[in-house]
Amino acid sequence: MRYSIVYCSRTGNTKQIAEAIYAQLPAGDVVYMGVPCEEALNADVLFVGSWTDKGTCDPSVADFLSKTEHKTVFLFGTSGFGQSKQYFEQILQRVKELLPQTTTTGQGFMCQGKMPMAVRQRYQAMLEQEPENARFKMMIENFDAALEHPNAKDLEEAAAWARSCVEQL
Ligand SMILES: Cc1cc2nc3c(=O)[nH]c(=O)nc-3n(C[C@H](O)[C@H](O)[C@H](O)COP(=O)(O)O)c2cc1C
Repeated sequence: MRYSIVYCSRTGNTKQIAEAIYAQLPAGDVVYMGVPCEEALNADVLFVGSWTDKGTCDPSVADFLSKTEHKTVFLFGTSGFGQSKQYFEQILQRVKELLPQTTTTGQGFMCQGKMPMAVRQRYQAMLEQEPENARFKMMIENFDAALEHPNAKDLEEAAAWARSCVEQL
């Protein structure tokens, strides 16, 4: 079986997941690992991941997914919010809808990923304007919770997920 791992990661979180996946695959069978690129289509099975931007994947990943006709694609990603599995499922579902009809897919994987400090500063400024705003407080709490992700448990779960994808083939 030939595998590709394709991902878009701005600040390294999704790259960490990609590396955990890579470690589960027979190294000689991985024909491509890196940013979305035609060369990745030389594989039969593609692990495709992205950071989350406005509730969906990076446009470069969306464009790549549209070219995966007749391939098997397993989706993964990281997002700044992550208090519930439902939230991850919503994002995965949105991205899944970008796949051509002939593409085979299965259960995806997502975990939370830390955000740049500038985001916290923005939330903090918003809270200073409206100190009682519960939503702004929640956003700061979420930001702080995200700081430790992806953590060792996330990476173990990503590895277990990658193994289960391979077993399905
Ligand atoms: C401009 C921008 C937009 C973002 N939009 C979302 C979003 O809509 N939902 C979300 O959960 N996280 C969002 N995030 C957080 C990132 O998706 C998250 O930190 C991710 O782990 C970054 O992955 P990377 O390190 O692989 O780039 C956003 C971050 C930035 C900088």
